[in-house]
Amino acid sequence: MWWWLACTSPSDEAPADAPTFHEDVAPILADSCTNCHQDGAIAPMPLTTYDEASAFSEVIAADAAARIMPPFLADNAGACNTFEHANWLSDEEIATLEAWAEAEAPEGDPSATPAEMTPPIEGLSDWTHDASMAETYAPDFGGAADDYRCFLVDPGLDDDAYLTAYEVLPGDATIVHHLVAYGLYDQAGFDEATALDEADPGPGYTCFGDAGVDSTFLIAAWAPGGAAWEYPEGTGIPLDGDLPLIVQMHYNDGGGVEDQTAFRLRMADVVERPLSAFFWVNSDLNIPPGVDGHKETDRTSLASYTGYPADLIPTQEILAIAPHMHQMGKSLKATMFREDGSKQCVVDVPRWDFNWQFVYTYTQPIEFNALDELKLDCIYDSSEATETVNWGEGTGAEMCLVALFTADKL
Ligand code: HEC
Repeated sequence: MWWWLACTSPSDEAPADAPTFHEDVAPILADSCTNCHQDGAIAPMPLTTYDEASAFSEVIAADAAARIMPPFLADNAGACNTFEHANWLSDEEIATLEAWAEAEAPEGDPSATPAEMTPPIEGLSDWTHDASMAETYAPDFGGAADDYRCFLVDPGLDDDAYLTAYEVLPGDATIVHHLVAYGLYDQAGFDEATALDEADPGPGYTCFGDAGVDSTFLIAAWAPGGAAWEYPEGTGIPLDGDLPLIVQMHYNDGGGVEDQTAFRLRMADVVERPLSAFFWVNSDLNIPPGVDGHKETDRTSLASYTGYPADLIPTQEILAIAPHMHQMGKSLKATMFREDGSKQCVVDVPRWDFNWQFVYTYTQPIEFNALDELKLDCIYDSSEATETVNWGEGTGAEMCLVALFTADKL
């Protein structure tokens, strides 16, 4: 074969109209990838130059086509809603990456490279409170790639207030893979978290999948490249001024040794529409071992889920959603069945990835009446399990839920 290779250079094969790095590929990478794929950031390799990217052209095309990269799990193609700030490649962009790889990664004209391959991330300009992990923490990978750790973080509130926006300032961006932040409903939850913290040596406590405490609600899920996050216009999440936040850090071994992640919070005394943040769960899971594709389904109305009389529940709008499963999770779908017999797709996660959890804000909020029913379908691969898997917090247990951010419809 060598003689054939020797007389067939890649450029001979590339069709004249094949996409090139500088003209076609670099703008896609700058828009959707380099926030993580640059030196000093979380991804394993930078993709900011021709040499860096061309070495990976085939796996870039394959991961993009499978929608493994960029990580954005909720289908944003339109059949099941679209979301704000979606890092979602268009079919055309995927086709460009595929054609580029196919043509063996032609370079093109270097003068066409977009000026900024690593655009700055837009921060918050009007935050009111600074918060931070109380101490630095040195992740304990102990031979594993990941360390999941929860920290109590004091948001520095004098009084109850609404969180309307936040920005995450990762302490060491080479190890902060992603984080999920929780609020506490009550003192009992605080006591529970404090006990966990005290029982575990070193700052914080080990936690997997969630905060390890019952009375929590999700307030944030952040991954690198996430700019400042603002809750929908006029809304905010009520926080109890006496209670800390719980921040679950997912550290991934990237060479860094310690971290002290900080937060900028924008708090308001009043908001037009307070957000209710709550988990909608199907906790009745009985996943038999050794099955690839086991499905758990649950369908409940808002009235029966909350236990409130239907006529006391005003029409709601779901403004944002965060799907959640553990590592056996394969896919998750939520569908609304209306009282009038119609149905609507709420969120479709065709390929669940425990590594990447986000809050997805709807471009178009979803209405929700007390007697409408929300159906959750969660599909698992329990091939590796040796016994029935139930609901729980541990690595061997599973979950099936969506965190909902709702407000009364105006
Ligand atoms: C939010 C951060 C983030 C963004 C955005 C992102 N990546 Fe990644 N990427 C990662 C991380 C972290 C890994 C390592 C594997 C993992 O943790 O999933 C990775 C792995 C990869 C791999 C696999 C490397 C291998 O050797 O298997 C490829 C290819 C890749 N990314 C390409 C891309 C492309 C192309 C884009 C944009 C279209 C992109 N990524 C956007 C964080 C990101």
